[in-house]
Amino acid sequence: MQKLEIKGGRKISGTVTISGSKNATLPILVSTILTNQKVIIKNVPIVRDVETMTELLSTLGSTVIFDKKRKKIEIENKKPLKTYAPYHLLKTMRAGVLVLGPLLAKYKTAKVALPGGCAIGSRPIDIHLNALKKMGAKIKIRNGYVIASAKKGLRGCSIRFPKISVGATQNVLIAACFTQGITKLRNCAQEPEVDDLINFLKKVGCKINRLGKRSINITGIKKLKPATHEVIFDRIEAGTYIIAAALTKGNLKIKNIEPKIMSNEINLLKKMGVQITKKKKHVVVICKGKIKSANVVTKPYPGFPTDLQAQIMVLMIKANGVSTIKEKIFENRFMHVSELRRMGAHIETNGNQAKIFGNTKLNGAELMATDLRASVSLVLAGLVSSNTTVVNRIYHLDRGYEKIEKKLSSCGAKIKRLT
Ligand code: UD1
Repeated sequence: MQKLEIKGGRKISGTVTISGSKNATLPILVSTILTNQKVIIKNVPIVRDVETMTELLSTLGSTVIFDKKRKKIEIENKKPLKTYAPYHLLKTMRAGVLVLGPLLAKYKTAKVALPGGCAIGSRPIDIHLNALKKMGAKIKIRNGYVIASAKKGLRGCSIRFPKISVGATQNVLIAACFTQGITKLRNCAQEPEVDDLINFLKKVGCKINRLGKRSINITGIKKLKPATHEVIFDRIEAGTYIIAAALTKGNLKIKNIEPKIMSNEINLLKKMGVQITKKKKHVVVICKGKIKSANVVTKPYPGFPTDLQAQIMVLMIKANGVSTIKEKIFENRFMHVSELRRMGAHIETNGNQAKIFGNTKLNGAELMATDLRASVSLVLAGLVSSNTTVVNRIYHLDRGYEKIEKKLSSCGAKIKRLT
């Protein structure tokens, strides 16, 4: 089992380049199921979930060439794909369930394992399934698999999602591109990763019309075009490095991003006393004074992202005064709290609310990573702890953070991977 060892007390300064977004890359890769033409995806992050997704597409029968050096994936479907997505490829990566919509739309049948992923709540897929049922799919769950068919093909209809779901929006949006008629989606997620998927789908010829912020109309087509697409930056990775610089009182340039996409997070951090200079494609973070406390509520985009909740909590441990967090997206996303307490943090939780007492000294400890973002929060805590911190079970971290120890050590951290 691989571990990360961090010796705290170093500033995170210099320059870091942010990778492409994992959460944008995964649905874009899935949507290539619809096409028989060659598609090239650039700026993909070299992380485990992307590797698992390419393996899943290869298993289905796609020809996938992953050029890791150039961060480029070429995909071509030279023959009809299989419609069976096995459990061993979906158990670690929830986004695997996104293959359901496009397989059903194109091949009228699909057998897809119920997904795994981070243990941050029950994470049902009822919204995905109910929308596909409305489009004409017959669906049953048997032995941990979703078995779906639409003998006459899916048909366009109006769907209002009962709750904002990134995955359900993406799954149904991709399916609708290959569905007869017009599909009207309402109460959609408007995360930048959904926009990036729409941009890609339009490049391959799909007819998608965003009416308002949360409304999308799609007119189905039968044949897609070849295209090349560059994935957007990872706003969660960028936010994590901003927090790393702020925590350690560093001076860090964060490159390859579009700061306007993360204005909300940047404004909150500025209010907490972090100096952030925004340019078109980068930000510079400087933090000299005391961090101020804050009250954060996680919400769908453009609200504060749940995927940055664990990281901001570590900054709050070092702030002046008491901060609060209300986690409104996932019901069980405070698993990092018990590990942070083992390092000396003073945090009280009550259901989905946390109270973080600031000005607390953290001591290095041996820790266990639980989910992707919780894992990185422990690394951040290690950067500002006395002594040495060891984060165990870092396979979660490798699912979503590219070369984290290399990026952090090039900015001054003392961090190494132990195998
Ligand atoms: C995506 C992101 C994840 C992020 C999350 C919220 C990817 C690969 N993952 O996950 O990093 O934390 O958005 O921004 O992009 N829900 C249901 N039924 C459903 C679907 C969702 O009840 O059928 C609930 C979930 O349990 C959760 C909420 O809706 O409470 C939002 O989940 P959703 O937006 O679907 O998250 P994911 O797409 O899984």
